[in-house]
Amino acid sequence: MAAAAVFGLFATEGHAQSRYPERPITIVVPAAAGGPSDTVARLVAQAMTPSLGQQIVIENKGGAGGSLGAGDVAKAPPDGYTLLLYHIGVATFAPLYPKLPYKPEEFSSVGLVTEVPMVLVGRSDLKANTMPELLALLKDKGTSLTIGTAGVGSVSHLCALVLAKETGAKFVDVPYKGSGPAMLDLVGKRIDLMCDQTTNTVNQIKSGDIKAFGVTTRAPIAALPNVPTLDQSGLKGFEITAWHALWAPKGTPEAIRLKLSEALKTALKDPTVIDRMASLGTVPVPDALATPAALDRQFRAEIERLGKLLAAVAPN
Ligand code: MLT
Repeated sequence: MAAAAVFGLFATEGHAQSRYPERPITIVVPAAAGGPSDTVARLVAQAMTPSLGQQIVIENKGGAGGSLGAGDVAKAPPDGYTLLLYHIGVATFAPLYPKLPYKPEEFSSVGLVTEVPMVLVGRSDLKANTMPELLALLKDKGTSLTIGTAGVGSVSHLCALVLAKETGAKFVDVPYKGSGPAMLDLVGKRIDLMCDQTTNTVNQIKSGDIKAFGVTTRAPIAALPNVPTLDQSGLKGFEITAWHALWAPKGTPEAIRLKLSEALKTALKDPTVIDRMASLGTVPVPDALATPAALDRQFRAEIERLGKLLAAVAPN
């Protein structure tokens, strides 16, 4: 290619990056609408819009624990107009889906968003009201309880795997396209248990539609002050939280990702975002973590940690 043409190409790319965004942006949430990932995505997208000056459209693409929707983002053009908002599950896709048509670690980072606690919850008429009573129920050989998850690779499924390993329970996994539809069945008493994020359980617990057995954090959480930790309730050391992040396809220019990171930082300081997250049991990450470098570090460390954890808990 002649030098002028190459220069022209770079000038065009540089021009596109400097004017980005010039049209609406799509954030793919690889889980059904109405669930915890969707809740975080819609809240943050709305708060990012003013500083980007473009509409952000949420596209829900549930299935296979989120690995299908994430695959669509992996195939999207690296131009900053298709992003992925999901969580810790992305770091579990490679070991859980050996034939994955993309490498999750090749996504390019925008930034971390929030780290959400989880709660072990049950149908309101389950014959157990406390963790010790539930553990006794789980140990009863004649009992086989269903647990709703968002599919292999979801964080609700990861929590169920660890729970089964820690308790010796033989759950019947009932997979959904997201925790939103799973929660409808838990409230409807069609499944027995879920391990789900506070963003999808706090309101249902407070309304009495479901019952809470324990939170998955080392300390109780302000949004559910009367719910003990699983660590305190007989599952020593039980700790799982769902960190959420924003990614772009591999090769998305750093200038575009840094512009998105700045808009994300602004959104995470929006009082509406802070208040809504607090009411749902979580908090936004500080500026320093809403950056590509911070997500790069977290993602690499979590891929290694979760690879080892899954080797210990995933059924072979
Ligand atoms: C999960 O379990 O990974 C998520 O809760 C899925 C969702 O956000 O619906």
